[in-house]
Order: sequence, then structure tokens, then C-alpha cells
Amino acid sequence: MAATAVASDDRLIFCHFMIGIVSNRQSPTDYDDDMKRARSLGIDAFALNIGTDPYTDTQLGYAYQSAAKNDMKVFLSFDFNWYNTGQTSAIGSKIKQYSGLPAQLKVDNKVFVSSFAGDGVDVNAIKSAAGEDIFFAPNFHPGVGDFSTIQGALNWMAWDNNGNNKAPSPGHNVTVSDGDRSYIKALSGKPYIAPVSAWFSTHFGGEVSYSKNWVFPSDLLWYNRWREILALRPRFIEIITWNDYGESHYIGPLSSPHTDDGSSKWVMDMPHDGWLEMSRPFIAALKANASSADAFVTDEKLIYWYRPTPKSVNCDATDTTMEGNPNNSSGNFFRGRPNGADSMEDSVFVVSLLKSAASLTVQSGNKSQEIKVSTGINAYSVPMGVGKQKFTLTRGDKTILSGTSLKDISDTCICGIYNFNAYVGVLPDESAIDQLQPAGLALISQGLKVACPTNTLSAKANIATVSGSLRGSM
Ligand SMILES: *[C@@H]1O[C@H](CO)[C@@H](O)[C@H](O)[C@H]1NC(C)=O
Ligand SMILES: *[C@@H]1O[C@H](CO)[C@@H](O)[C@H](O)[C@H]1NC(C)=O
Ligand SMILES: *[C@@H]1O[C@H](CO)[C@@H](O)[C@H](O)[C@H]1NC(C)=O
Ligand SMILES: *[C@@H]1O[C@H](CO)[C@@H](O)[C@H](O)[C@H]1NC(C)=O
Ligand SMILES: *[C@@H]1O[C@H](CO)[C@@H](O)[C@H](O)[C@H]1NC(C)=O
Repeated sequence: MAATAVASDDRLIFCHFMIGIVSNRQSPTDYDDDMKRARSLGIDAFALNIGTDPYTDTQLGYAYQSAAKNDMKVFLSFDFNWYNTGQTSAIGSKIKQYSGLPAQLKVDNKVFVSSFAGDGVDVNAIKSAAGEDIFFAPNFHPGVGDFSTIQGALNWMAWDNNGNNKAPSPGHNVTVSDGDRSYIKALSGKPYIAPVSAWFSTHFGGEVSYSKNWVFPSDLLWYNRWREILALRPRFIEIITWNDYGESHYIGPLSSPHTDDGSSKWVMDMPHDGWLEMSRPFIAALKANASSADAFVTDEKLIYWYRPTPKSVNCDATDTTMEGNPNNSSGNFFRGRPNGADSMEDSVFVVSLLKSAASLTVQSGNKSQEIKVSTGINAYSVPMGVGKQKFTLTRGDKTILSGTSLKDISDTCICGIYNFNAYVGVLPDESAIDQLQPAGLALISQGLKVACPTNTLSAKANIATVSGSLRGSM
């Protein structure tokens, strides 16, 4: 991709951050942990996704202040689900309001601005309302938006799809790489913001007004896509997302302060911080302009993930999508098992970060598999079994890592629903249990038909501690 190759110090890593779900934050301090975590991972800037909520400016003020304090950059990403393309003067004045703050990302000495959707917006009208030139890299779509008026573009489609915002089917298969190719062509040499995402699963029923229920093929996407990114090496990369819990593609902590949009039903007990750890050597490799991340493994780790129930488990009797007549003008609402469910495998996925070869045993329920694991960063999948999930890594006679996941795979419907989100674990597991805070759990029982015990990972860990065996140990 010669057109997008740049000096390594020009390369920037962004991560999409939803302002719409953080109205409960009280001060810049409430952003500090996110800023520090992202910075230490190698993320250069948060793309602050904004709608037109009354709390947007308060929260942007906090975010810009915290970013400045923590050596991070931020920029505005206008969400055209809420803005319309006629609002160029409102958009321009919003840009102007923040452009002078120290944490504002500038690229090529211009204020950097992005979007979700927004094809057709008049870029010159935005610039004139902003009162300055900007580096505008919106989520225009090839063949739809006018690429001659922009400085770069974001491709949002980080998941293989059918060309119509759902999982691919035979004959209707637009891969993420296909998207790369059409953006790079449409941009003809202008910088590309390539998307990277770990997962996609959403399951809102009639209990909210934005009912939607589908998945994109996710499985080993996070691993495979980072390898594609290392081959592509675009100037800009955007991780999708830090905190969009509703679509299950968050890599930020569950404890990151946020309100509940109704997604706690499938997010509770489902930490993703292991994905953040998995991306660390890939980001380091990108920054070093290296084509492989293998040499950037600093600590040996196993990252593993899986859905909490096999696909075949039937939750129709208690699932939140089965009742009422939700508004389906979006075409995104389906009843029962999520649309696209068959694009996911009933597997346990393991990514090993190793400095030399070893042997891995995965015991998934009553299914056991031993795998010879190579040095560097490699991915494996083994058939999912109901019950405990245990991982043991040995080298010769020596056990290097061993632990049982805090989350069992279950053949019953947890909280009564189809949950196609992923549980992500890490070995060695040195961090505290990451859990949703009260505001993030506020709507958990809305629409549920069965009892739903909350934050059960910590309860189990307590039991394990009482019985004398520490979580994460054998
Ligand atoms: C980065 O690597 C590519 C491919 O090996 C090379 O063409 C380019 O010159 C390198 N850039 C820098 C700044 O070293
Ligand atoms: C879509 O194409 C990719 C790449 O060839 C392939 O891995 C995947 O299985 C295809 N999916 C479907 C549903 O055909
Ligand atoms: C359904 O949702 C659309 C889009 O939000 C809205 O325009 C429409 O009025 C809604 N229909 C009903 C019957 O509420
Ligand atoms: C919602 O609309 C989509 C697209 O038209 C359709 O495929 C789907 O079956 C609809 N959902 C329901 C529950 O009718
Ligand atoms: C393994 O577990 C599955 C699911 O719980 C069960 O159906 C099967 O009988 C078990 N097999 C053995 C050999 O225990």
C-alpha cells in the first residue's frame, strides 16, 4: 500500500470513545483512568463521538482537560445519527469551541475532525463556520460522499459483512479487506483511517426504543485484523471502540464510569481487558514500523475468549426480543437468536504471546485438547465444552501458566437472554476483577423474565479465596 506508507512517527492510533453514555461523570478526574490506560497502550488520541445531548459540552470539557493532564490527544467525531448534514454552522462552531484547547489533536498543523456517517455534509461550510482550516477525515463512504473535499476518511466497517450492515452470507460477502481496498482507492493517496475491532454483538429488544439484534462474525477477528493492519500499515488506525458496550466492541474496562443504555444484560461479567493486552505488542510493532509483532512480546501471556453459551441453547421462552412489536424501521430488529448467529463458531479462542515454544492444554468442559504452541503471537481455537474452562501452558516439565477462568460456559440462558458477547480472560491474571459500577447496571432487570444475579465473578472469586485457592491459580 505504497500510497499510504508514511514515516513511522506520522502514524497515529485512535480509539473511538462514546460521550453519549458518560453523562454521569462529575469531573475531569473521572476520565483520568481511561486516558492513562489508553496512553500506556500506545493510543495517541480518543475520537470523541458526540451527539446533541444536553451534557455533551460538560463532558467534552472534562475529557479535554483530563487528556491535557495525561499527555493524550482528543478530537471530535460528529455522530450523524444525531446531527444532520444541514447543521454545518453548528458543527463548525462546535469545532471552533474546542480547537484551541491544548489536548486538541492537530495533524499537519490543522485541527483534526472526524465523524460517524455524514456523507453529503458541506465541508467548506463547516470550515468557514469553524473560522479555520481543518483536517477533516469523516466516515464518508466510497461512491457516496465527495472524497475530493476531505483530507482523509474513516472506514467504520471493521467486520466482514453482507454489504447491508449484517453478517455475510455466501455470495454476499464484503470483507474488512475489501473495505480497505475501496477506501484506499476512493482516497487516491489521502490518508486512510483503517478500522480494527474485536467483536460485534448487540441484543436490544422492545424494552428500549432502539431495538436491534444482530452479530457480525467475530471469533478471531481481533487477532486476524491486527495482522492485516501490520501488513497494510496505514497512516491512521481507529480501534472500534473503547466503551461502546451496547455493540460489545469495548476494550476499555467495565468499571470505566458510564450509564446503562440497556446493554448491561450482556455486558455484566464480561470483561474485555484481555483484548487490550493482546493489542499491546501489535501497537508497539506499528510504532516501530515493524511488520511482525512477535519481537514485541515483553511478558508471556495467554489471552482467551469465548461466548458464555453454545449457539444451540434455546432462550426463546425468556429472551427480551420475543415480545411486543418493537419499531423496526431501521431493519436491525430480529426476534430470538441474533441475526448472523451462524457466523460465530462454538469455540474457545486462545492467543498466546510467547518468547519460546510451549505446550498448551485447554480443558473446555469435558473436552480437552493439547496444542504445540509456537514462539511469538499465535491464535488457536478449540471446540467449546459446557463447564469450567482451564488453561495450562507447559515447557518441558515446567508449568509456565495455569488457571481456571472465572466464567464457566453454560447450557442455560444467563439472565434469560441470548448473550453473544465474549468473556475475555488473561493469564497470568494480575488485575483486580473488572466489574460494572451501579450506574452501568441501572437497567439490568428492565425487560428480563428471570432473576439475574449481578457481578458474580467477584462472588466466585471470594468463594475461591475462602477455600484457599486464589483465582487464576491452579
Ligand atoms: C517502514 O517500513 C516500510 C516497509 O518496510 C518502509 O518502506 C519504510 O521506509 C519504513 N519507514 C520508516 C520511517 O522507517
Ligand atoms: C467471506 O470471505 C472470507 C475471505 O475469503 C472468508 O474467510 C469467509 O468465510 C467468507 N464468509 C462467507 C459467509 O462466505
Ligand atoms: C420508528 O422509528 C423511526 C426512526 O426512529 C421513527 O421515525 C418512526 O416514527 C417510528 N415509528 C413509530 C410507529 O414509532
Ligand atoms: C426487521 O427488518 C428487517 C429488514 O427488513 C427484516 O429482515 C426483519 O425480519 C425484521 N424483523 C422482524 C422481527 O420482523
Ligand atoms: C460432555 O459434556 C456434554 C455437555 O455437558 C455432555 O452432553 C456429554 O455427555 C459429556 N461427555 C462425556 C464423555 O462426559
